[in-house]
Amino acid sequence: MQNDTAFQMAASNIRFGIGTTAEVGMDLQSMQAKRVMLVIDPALVDSPTGLIVRQSLQSSRIPFEQFADISVEPTASSFQAATAAAVEGRFDAFVAVGGGSTIDTAKAANLYSTHPADFFDYVNAPIGRGLAVPGPLKPLIALPTTAGTGSETTGVAIFDCVDRHAKTGISHRFLKPTLGIIDPENTKMLPPAVAAASGLDVLSHALESFTAIPFNQRPKPTSPALRPAYQGANPISDIWALRALEIVNESLVRAFRDSSDDEARGQMLLAAAIAGIGFGNAGVHLPHAMSYPVAGMVRNFRPTGYDVDHALVPHGISVILHTPAVARFTAPTSPSRHLRAAQALGADTTDVSPDDAGEVLAGRVVELMKILEMPNGLNAVGYSNEDIPALVSGTLQQQRITQLSPIEARESELRDLFQQSMTLW
Ligand SMILES: NC(=O)c1ccc[n+]([C@@H]2O[C@H](COP(=O)([O-])OP(=O)(O)OC[C@H]3O[C@@H](n4cnc5c(N)ncnc54)[C@H](O)[C@@H]3O)[C@@H](O)[C@H]2O)c1
Repeated sequence: MQNDTAFQMAASNIRFGIGTTAEVGMDLQSMQAKRVMLVIDPALVDSPTGLIVRQSLQSSRIPFEQFADISVEPTASSFQAATAAAVEGRFDAFVAVGGGSTIDTAKAANLYSTHPADFFDYVNAPIGRGLAVPGPLKPLIALPTTAGTGSETTGVAIFDCVDRHAKTGISHRFLKPTLGIIDPENTKMLPPAVAAASGLDVLSHALESFTAIPFNQRPKPTSPALRPAYQGANPISDIWALRALEIVNESLVRAFRDSSDDEARGQMLLAAAIAGIGFGNAGVHLPHAMSYPVAGMVRNFRPTGYDVDHALVPHGISVILHTPAVARFTAPTSPSRHLRAAQALGADTTDVSPDDAGEVLAGRVVELMKILEMPNGLNAVGYSNEDIPALVSGTLQQQRITQLSPIEARESELRDLFQQSMTLW
């Protein structure tokens, strides 16, 4: 089979700066929005962020309705509830104010109210039918309030498919927000535990897109129209990924330790968007694929710092638990790339032999996890070796991203990777 010879870089439209939240009304006015659905995280409704957004809409005379029925880590039914509200409201534009959970909910409400379909039509195969979104959606302006997912830059909406005990998503470039307004004021109230988990999601996006299979080792699609958004590592996404890793090294621990460190919080928001643009065009691989069954099969784990009424392994945690084992596994495919990533993350790579690249990278990630008070492996979030067969089978359903691993991970390799992720230090 021939390999692909091309890649495409689709940039995202973002505005960054302190105070930009107040500009959202002007943007909607220039889009000639007449009826806006304001999708907002309930924790932010009465916050200064919520207030400024509503004031901005009011002073620009934009009629809107507020929808705050968001599930932290949304489900098919919470996406459907938001869709029902969007259909009922006949909106012509959307504003999302919150973390990935809220922005993804707004993307789904926009999609299904604009192009009605059976819910699983647009969901990634094999869980859904993976049909292409038929046309552009209505304008969506996303204002992230966590420094993590980069959802303001991506064409992806992730949800928990509760019946299948697995997370999956909808992925199409038409889902990408029309504009991301990134205002460092909006993460001032972020609990340290959320800053840590979502910041490690940024690290994972950058590291996985940098170490993914190169775009020219992926099979060539039968038509250019079928070239996936997740194309594998490429020379442009590499730039974004490395810069994001450097910022994570400079700012994540500072933002976690001191929420009044405005510079560090602003830098982490920037890193989230930078990593988002990188992985939106390159993809993520095994740590993300392995995280989805871990999140979907959760039993009793209740993370500190998250205001939720159900068991949850927050996304950033469920991903980072696998990163050390995966780094050791993939490093032999490109020791220099793994060392470059370790260096960007702050590891001393002087005189390190290529054979030790995986160990050095894994060691630096573990160091950061300890500082950020992460659980010590899958055991600490309620899993044991008995769960490995189900976790492996859940991961094998994530072909869209497992195929971006630089080295194939079959059942036996995944079993080993889960085993090695049970306890990390
Ligand atoms: N669409 C994408 O490209 C993409 C990428 C990665 C992850 N995701 C998905 O995004 C979701 C995770 O999103 P997240 O990590 O941004 O967190 P989140 O949106 O789930 O929010 C986490 C918690 O923080 C609270 N919160 C958010 N902002 C706050 C603020 N400024 N002040 C106080 N509390 C605040 C929320 O109420 C919630 O309790 C997962 O479902 C994940 O799978 C999406």
